[in-house]
Amino acid sequence: MKKITVCRKATFNAAHRLYNPAWSDDKNDAIFGLCNNPSYHGHNYELIVAVTGPIDPVTGYTMDMKVLKDLIKLKVEDAFDHKNLNEQVEEFKTLNPTAENIAVVIWERLRPHLADQLGLEVTLYETPRNFVKYSG
Ligand code: NI
Repeated sequence: MKKITVCRKATFNAAHRLYNPAWSDDKNDAIFGLCNNPSYHGHNYELIVAVTGPIDPVTGYTMDMKVLKDLIKLKVEDAFDHKNLNEQVEEFKTLNPTAENIAVVIWERLRPHLADQLGLEVTLYETPRNFVKYSG
């Protein structure tokens, strides 16, 4: 069976602060630098969701891209766009919203809604040059 990867891009703009409440202000500054700004700062995040699986012989699809688009909108864009990630997204109330952790949270939000035989990889760009990948 041939397998192929279908990808959908999305973007969201969000604010965050990298901070560990268990540490002193000095240690937070030393580890997180400008990302520890108490007044937060923003990024234009770019997301690529890649779904890998067989091509259905009847439809010719691996996954209906309309379904994938709607899923990303509901679970990621509506939840994250123009939000303060630390304060307004449940997962980040107790988890530092680094690019790494944001990618894992996105993966965990999407995975339950995909068929078991499909693979899922999330690529998240925090800046045009800094990006992370997570595939479970
Ligand atoms: Ni940042």
